[in-house]
Amino acid sequence: MARLTAFVVLLMLLKIHVIQGYYYDRVPTITKCPGYYCGRHQIPDENGTNIWSSCGSCPRGSRVNSTWACSDCTSSPTAYDWMYLCFMVVVGLLAQWYSIDIVAASPQLSWKTFGTHLSAFIETCLSACIALLLHEPLGSLELRSCAVEQLSDWYTILHNPNPNYEEVLHCAQEAVYPLYSIVFVHYGLSVFMLFALRPWVNKALQNRGHSASQPIYAALYLFPILALIHGIMAGLIYYAFPSIIILLSLMSHAFHFASRQDQSWKALLYETVSRVHNLVVVIGHWVLHGFGLVALTLWLEPQLLAAVLTLVPLPTFLYIALSRFTDPGKFHSD
Ligand SMILES: *[C@@H]1O[C@H](CO)[C@@H](O)[C@H](O)[C@H]1NC(C)=O
Ligand SMILES: *[C@@H]1O[C@H](CO)[C@@H](O)[C@H](O)[C@H]1NC(C)=O
Repeated sequence: MARLTAFVVLLMLLKIHVIQGYYYDRVPTITKCPGYYCGRHQIPDENGTNIWSSCGSCPRGSRVNSTWACSDCTSSPTAYDWMYLCFMVVVGLLAQWYSIDIVAASPQLSWKTFGTHLSAFIETCLSACIALLLHEPLGSLELRSCAVEQLSDWYTILHNPNPNYEEVLHCAQEAVYPLYSIVFVHYGLSVFMLFALRPWVNKALQNRGHSASQPIYAALYLFPILALIHGIMAGLIYYAFPSIIILLSLMSHAFHFASRQDQSWKALLYETVSRVHNLVVVIGHWVLHGFGLVALTLWLEPQLLAAVLTLVPLPTFLYIALSRFTDPGKFHSD
């Protein structure tokens, strides 16, 4: 019995050694790696001939393919990928605009507030462009990336395999290069642009005191918070952002109309058309609705997509048409 046990233990040790050697050694011809994201890349040996490295994470800018080789990310981002990146950029811009609106002295759109909004817009555009220029291909607004295949691509750190339950192979990497890291780069550049441009804009607009300094302080909180949310939730946001944008813009649209004094449909319509601020807010919401709808229905035929876009102003008309039925005062008098 003891002899049998010793034999089995010996066999297991041998097997572990063989399999470990298999994964942890350099090999002349490519062999299998465990896990979803472990791969081998080519390295020169002492004699200068190319051999394959041990299994591990692929170098930045490459991703393991079906034959366990790290191959460079050379595909272009899909339309959906671009819309995702736009969404992350727009979230940063809207958060800034919102903080500028909150500290603005008057609720009406003044030239100073408008100038600050415009400055935030220009800073955002500049940092987005610089972020694109800094990524492959260098110095061009195009982007080379690896395709997103599944949710786990965003969370490779949770998928380090431990073959034989011995030692964990560290294969975490940015499998969706550069869709994850470029958002951090953009937010960092946005803060830099804020410091580089905003003081000059405030000087030119003679913007002093709270309305000049508060949006800058707010942005110093906003961007780290956005970066943290992106760091943790990027994969979920990537799949859910069309629904998020439609839901949030519908809510904020209803909030905008509900905060008007006069809820009769004539006043709602009149105040929407006659005040520039209201008009800009409503059209801004339409743009967001359209963006969300297109992202959600990107797989449809282009003709159907155009039909879907006619739904964009629908919430506004529904609110105005139905406002007299939803007035709480009416329920009491009826
Ligand atoms: C390098 O070349 C020498 C002489 O040709 C050979 O003995 C040695 O095994 C080679 N090393 C490797 C790692 O192939
Ligand atoms: C995987 O990448 C390697 C190295 O780039 C390449 O030689 C090989 O053909 C690729 N395999 C597949 C299935 O694409």
